[in-house]
Amino acid sequence: MSSPTPLAGYQSYKGLPQLAGLCTVEEAAKPGLGVEECVRRLKRFHYCFKRLHQILTARITSEPIYELKTGFAHHAYLCAEHVTALRTRISEMREPPLGLEDVPHLALEVFFDEILAAPTTEELIAGVYTHAVAELYGGIEQYMGVTNPLTDAPSCRVLRFAWHELAEMMNWGEKVADVLIGDPVWDGMRPWLEILAQLTMNSNGLDGAGTTSLSDPPVADAPGSPIPRRYSAKPYVYDPVPKRDERFTDPWNQGVNAESFLYNPAFPARPKALMMLYKRLREIDVPEMMASIITQTPGKPWGYYRDMSRQLWDEARHAMMGEVGFVALGVDWTKAKITFNWSHRLNTECTPMERHGVLYFIEQGLMPKTGKRYEFETGQATGLPLIATIQDFDWADEVLHSQIGRVWYVPQFESLKEALAYGDAAWSKVLSNWTTVKAQGLTNHENWWPAVYEMACKAEGVAPDPVVLAFDETYEGKRADLREVGEGLSG
Ligand SMILES: [Fe+2]
Ligand SMILES: [Fe+2]
Repeated sequence: MSSPTPLAGYQSYKGLPQLAGLCTVEEAAKPGLGVEECVRRLKRFHYCFKRLHQILTARITSEPIYELKTGFAHHAYLCAEHVTALRTRISEMREPPLGLEDVPHLALEVFFDEILAAPTTEELIAGVYTHAVAELYGGIEQYMGVTNPLTDAPSCRVLRFAWHELAEMMNWGEKVADVLIGDPVWDGMRPWLEILAQLTMNSNGLDGAGTTSLSDPPVADAPGSPIPRRYSAKPYVYDPVPKRDERFTDPWNQGVNAESFLYNPAFPARPKALMMLYKRLREIDVPEMMASIITQTPGKPWGYYRDMSRQLWDEARHAMMGEVGFVALGVDWTKAKITFNWSHRLNTECTPMERHGVLYFIEQGLMPKTGKRYEFETGQATGLPLIATIQDFDWADEVLHSQIGRVWYVPQFESLKEALAYGDAAWSKVLSNWTTVKAQGLTNHENWWPAVYEMACKAEGVAPDPVVLAFDETYEGKRADLREVGEGLSG
């Protein structure tokens, strides 16, 4: 038996927690990793989060399933936050030049290129969640296990949060895979998933911890090289056309003018809650559109992508608030025809800069007294605390979005006036397609309002008000931002 080491016998004053609660002296006496190795791995994590953010954002628009669209919006935002935190931490570690835009390893680049280009939702889910997120989770866990908890405490703090949120992402992905991916589909994906596994091996794990030398030698990315490309053999092309699942039965419908009802003082507050919830849920078009701006606007400072992703996520939350409100009021929201007209048209008819202009222009329209404050006050007047809460936070988020626009959109112009005029002009380009889509047989602009209103009345146990029930005003002939009533279609 060897005698106890001095470390094991060490006592703090009266047995108080040692080292400010970080760990014990014994744990901190293990040397752990050096700064150079820490930075090398942190840069790997940073790159992984950046690519995951890119992939999830790029796939929001064309993903039909609403629950996945909102899930991707959520996780893209989380990744953006961890990118930001890692950039800050790496910059504290004696590391100029930072080289944060460099690719740490070619096999790693191919790994994420493959997932970005995955042709089906199932492959995307498997690639992102069961491979990339799970590997990254393991790499961070490994890092926290070997780095010195005292010397490297600031990294550990950042990584603990990332690790926690990766676990949540992984759990979500597993549940999604359980529901959507059956055994035959897993079998069909196997060869490609093996390519992904091969790529992580070639890159010495996502964290690069398998590398024996401190430098990462690039691996040849050429025909006949051991790095195979399958889906990314042709460069990925972003699909800007929004898609919806089968619950969105009439996506060109512009048959119920929600703003006209909402701003009409003759109508009572309570049914206005339904129109506001419709407007909230309809906001699922904003993530579809913002994903296109983010994806098609390269070369901005990282703060741009972080802020835009935050706004994108907020807009997905606004849509989900609408969903929650409808369910709480006993309404089957699929009966309210949620359109994709706005995102579809902006994504296919405007440039990314024009889309940003339209977004900013519309959001400025939400700030005056007739906009978000009015919606909040109407929410209070409904006597339904949930509606007031939804509109309260919706308003707060919009104030933030208007600030984000002032930081990233307006400074591209000489003046605020010019910035607004550009957005107004871009939006004027998109003329009403009310008649066209009807003529093309895409929709009959069915008036879904009576069905939705009756459902809510039935759940509440009251008789429908005949005047409210008879509301029948469409968006025919309106520019879709409805400047005349001071309200935006989305935002
Ligand atoms: Fe917004
Ligand atoms: Fe919004």
